[in-house]
Amino acid sequence: MGIKKIIKLKNIFHAFGSRVLFNNVNIWIERGSFVFLTGDSGSGKTTLLKILHGEISPLSGYVSIAGINFGPRNKGFMHNLRRKVTMIHQDFILLEDRSVEDNIVLPLRAMGISKTQRQKRLDIILRTLELTKIRKNRCNSLSGGEKQRVAIARAIIVNPLILLADEPTGNLDNRQTIRLIKILRHFNLHGTTIVFATHNPELKRHVENSRLIHIINSKIQEIG
Ligand SMILES: Nc1ncnc2c1ncn2[C@@H]1O[C@H](COP(=O)(O)OP(=O)(O)OP(=O)(O)O)[C@@H](O)[C@H]1O
Ligand SMILES: [Mg+2]
Repeated sequence: MGIKKIIKLKNIFHAFGSRVLFNNVNIWIERGSFVFLTGDSGSGKTTLLKILHGEISPLSGYVSIAGINFGPRNKGFMHNLRRKVTMIHQDFILLEDRSVEDNIVLPLRAMGISKTQRQKRLDIILRTLELTKIRKNRCNSLSGGEKQRVAIARAIIVNPLILLADEPTGNLDNRQTIRLIKILRHFNLHGTTIVFATHNPELKRHVENSRLIHIINSKIQEIG
């Protein structure tokens, strides 16, 4: 795909009732970027990621993802991109009564990937996220950090074009946080564009040439 600006937001306005989250916001993200997204709790990080994921349509403005335009009038377009733009939700959204491996492999099934290929990719991802030992466990028996790693595995197993990560290290210890950044960086260097919401702007230090954008007063600031 020859698109350089893989994410374009123009003049975005969004509010919940009288609470204005985005007022005339513009964001351009180049393909292959690693972008950290910060902002106070309640500033709109999750909402912004959901706009990029097509779950929320802004009240007005122009959104273009991987060359596909959308806005309030053409929802549903995202089906084309559903497996190419994946999101690690802040609250995981796992199938709680299913096993770790069932959850992770689900998107590959939906894509019609062969069983042999599925097994191969699953084994690698389980190892990468240190989930092999608990692969058969049901998700409702896992710790917060384990659930978080399942959600991460499910989002990256498809090799997405764009990965939207909503505080993906919120439940991880320091060692796992640094490990995860390295894993994501690896995907990033192989072409995945990453938008990573976090409360910890220090993480930027671990990713060379990354950007940091900050939400404040319903606007976006570029830091550094
Ligand atoms: N569906 C909704 N209906 C009404 N208000 C909402 C809805 N979703 C979010 N909000 C409000 O919008 C604001 C931004 O929420 P959002 O979850 O995007 O913040 P955030 O920056 O991700 O916060 P945190 O760091 O705590 O995760 C909050 O004040 C929240 O209460
Ligand atoms: Mg949030």
